[in-house]
Amino acid sequence: MGYALEAESLGKVYGKKAVLYDFSLKVRAGSIFGLLGPNGAGKSTFIRIVSGLEEQDEGTLELLGAKAGKASRRQLGVAPQENSVYPLLTCMENLTYFGSLYGVTGKTARERAASLLAQLGLLEKKDVVAEYLSGGMKRRLSLACALMHLPKIIMLDEPTTGLDPATRIKMWETVRKVVHDTKATLILTTHYMEEAEALCDRLAFVSAGHVVAEGTPDELKKRVGKEIAKLSTVPGNAEKVIRIIKGIRGIDNVTATEHGVVVEAKGISSRLPEIARILVKNGETVIEMSVSQPSLEDVFLKMTGLKLLEAKKAEATKKNWRGEQS
Ligand SMILES: Nc1ncnc2c1ncn2[C@@H]1O[C@H](COP(=O)(O)OP(=O)(O)OP(=O)(O)O)[C@@H](O)[C@H]1O
Ligand SMILES: [Mg+2]
Repeated sequence: MGYALEAESLGKVYGKKAVLYDFSLKVRAGSIFGLLGPNGAGKSTFIRIVSGLEEQDEGTLELLGAKAGKASRRQLGVAPQENSVYPLLTCMENLTYFGSLYGVTGKTARERAASLLAQLGLLEKKDVVAEYLSGGMKRRLSLACALMHLPKIIMLDEPTTGLDPATRIKMWETVRKVVHDTKATLILTTHYMEEAEALCDRLAFVSAGHVVAEGTPDELKKRVGKEIAKLSTVPGNAEKVIRIIKGIRGIDNVTATEHGVVVEAKGISSRLPEIARILVKNGETVIEMSVSQPSLEDVFLKMTGLKLLEAKKAEATKKNWRGEQS
C-alpha cells in the first residue's frame, strides 16, 4: 500500500520565526499516525498547511499520491484544535451543513449524521444548539463534522483534549471503527502518551518545527533507553550483589535501592535467568524480580526535553518581565 500523505522538507515562517523547518513525514495509507510534541512545536501549523488553510513557504506535499490541491483536499476531513462547529446551529444542522460542503445532502446526510451522533453518544442532543453543549460534547460534534463526507484522510488535532477518561476511551473505539470501516488514514495530534500508544501504528515526535524521531511506539521506546530490572535477594548483601552483577558481561549499570538492586542493560529480561543463576552460585537467592520498559513519556522528554526546558525558561523570563512592568 502506498502513502496517504508525503511531506518533504516543509518550511513555514511567521514573521522572522521559522515555525516549521525541513519537516518531512510519510504516512502509510490505512494507518493511524500520531504527532506528538510540546506546545508550540508546529503540529497544528502542519495540519493547517495540509488542510490548505495556509501555504508552506518551502517543500512539497502530496496527498494520496497527488500534489496537494483543491481536488485531493476534498478527500480530507479535518477537526481542528479549536472546535469549528457553529454555535447557533443544532448538532444535526451542523452535521448536515458540513456534509453539504462536500456534496453529502438529503436523506444520506441525515442518516449519516444520526449514525455519527449515535456513535459519539450525542443522539439525545441532536436538536440542541452547539452553544449549549458541554466542552467534551462540542469536541465530539467537531469530530463528527469532519467525518460526514467519509474522508480518505482524517486529521484530528487533539481530538480528546478535555474529554473525561471514559469518553476518551469511547472516542478511541469510535475512531478505530471509523478508520477500519472506511479504510481511511488517520493523522492525529495528542499530548496523551497512553492515547498515542493505544491508538497509533506509528508516531512522530515534533520539536521546534522539525520531526526529531519517527517509528512504532515500540521502536521509539527501544531507542530511548534500556529496560530496567529490579531484583531482591536474600540474604541481600547489596554490595556483594552489585559486585557480582557488575562482573557479568554486557551489564551497564547496577545501583542499590531500598529493597534490592536496579540493573540496567540491553535486553535485560532475557538475561534474568543467567543473572539469577550466578547470584545463587554466590550465595544470594533471588526472591523477587520485575522488568520495566521505558515509557513513551521517557521518549518524549528525551527527544523534546531540551526544547521544553528552553520554552519554560523563555516563559519564566516573560512572566518576570510582565511582573516588573505592572
Ligand atoms: N498565525 C500565526 N502567526 C504567527 N505565529 C503563529 C501563527 N500560528 C502559529 N504561530 C506560532 O507557530 C508556533 C507553532 O504553533 P502551533 O500551533 O503549530 O503549535 P502546536 O505544536 O500545535 O502546539 P500545541 O501543542 O500548543 O497545540 C508557535 O510558536 C505559534 O505561536
Ligand atoms: Mg496545536
